Amino acid sequence: MTPRATLITGIGELVTNDPAVGDGSALGVLSGAAIVAAEGRIAWLGAAADAPAADERTDLAGRAVIPGFVDSHAHLVFAGDRAAEFAARMSGTPYDGGGIATTVAATRAASDGELRTLLTARVAELRAQGTTTVEIKSGYGLSVQDEVRALRLAGEVTAETTFLGAHVVPAGVDRDAYLHLVTGEMLTACAPLARWIDVFCEPASPHAFDGDEARAVLTAGAAAGLGLRVHGNQLSAGPGVRLAVELGAGSVDHCTYLTGSDVDALAAGDTVATLLPGVEFSTRSPYPDARRLLDAGVTVALATDCNPGTCYSSSMPFVIALGVRELRMTPAEALWAATAGGAAALRRADVGVLRVGARADLAVLDAPSYLHLAYRPGVPIARALTV
Ligand code: NIG
Ligand code: FE
Repeated sequence: MTPRATLITGIGELVTNDPAVGDGSALGVLSGAAIVAAEGRIAWLGAAADAPAADERTDLAGRAVIPGFVDSHAHLVFAGDRAAEFAARMSGTPYDGGGIATTVAATRAASDGELRTLLTARVAELRAQGTTTVEIKSGYGLSVQDEVRALRLAGEVTAETTFLGAHVVPAGVDRDAYLHLVTGEMLTACAPLARWIDVFCEPASPHAFDGDEARAVLTAGAAAGLGLRVHGNQLSAGPGVRLAVELGAGSVDHCTYLTGSDVDALAAGDTVATLLPGVEFSTRSPYPDARRLLDAGVTVALATDCNPGTCYSSSMPFVIALGVRELRMTPAEALWAATAGGAAALRRADVGVLRVGARADLAVLDAPSYLHLAYRPGVPIARALTV
């Protein structure tokens, strides 16, 4: 039986992220294009006038189409919220990671069913804003059984699961004993459920991990077959970025405080710098220097970091608007970073791009052009369309 094919027509502006087609830019923008999707993949893409016949037809009435957003950094398995902590920060209390303990307590107290309901609602919230791929971290369990539970739940909604047992040292637990657990029994239990391992490498936080501790976590994770990701340089110019590049991590995330040698290392390596400007918005921290990274030739991704502490927003359009306004990215750079950049950070070639063979993961905009993502901040113009 031949697979059912859907022809998508009436596309106002099509961003492919394939520089071989369209206007010659990195975004590969086409006008007057159509797409045929079958079995979740793009089967054909080209001028609408040349489109082949298909079983079904969807007319988008002039709306723009872009690759679905790839949110390569999110913490979606948690219970409770920390609105009071946010309010205190807006009055000047700095962020140091101490509030993570509050979320750990609420998450441990929640039932599997409660956590699943919260998680699926959050994934639906992302999709409603155009996200079609999301990476989801554990890190609010911090015991073997609670980290395993978080990864099981995350694995029900995404293939991009990340073991973040090394988020912080849990309250009342000896630091060396916890490091031993995270690199031993907890890793053994969690590795089969995860694609990646991550560590909050931040010597400026009394709760997080220093460079030597982070190296131990990452090398143990690599030995267990996991890809590497790092929370680095969020609160200070610490060792996270250089460690991530040295160990060949897919991505180092935050990059708020960078030295010249951090930028040089990123430019020479193939670790993606993932910027999370929703965090700076929600913590009143200075924004990272995206221009310095881009001008040095570093691959930059944008992601939400959706979590109850430093950024309780699941909106990639909001992040794009911040990228343009606060990080001085062009609208094209910000859109690329939120799609192809996220795919690079996850080492995925089948998402973040629209070409034959890629996943038919689209975002449709209630607008004629992708420029409206930053031009109309706060307006819900993007939604996911998986055909
Ligand atoms: O990416 N910085 C470490 N982890 C999260 C925040 C976690 C929390 O405060 O709950 C982040 O910002
Ligand atoms: Fe994070």
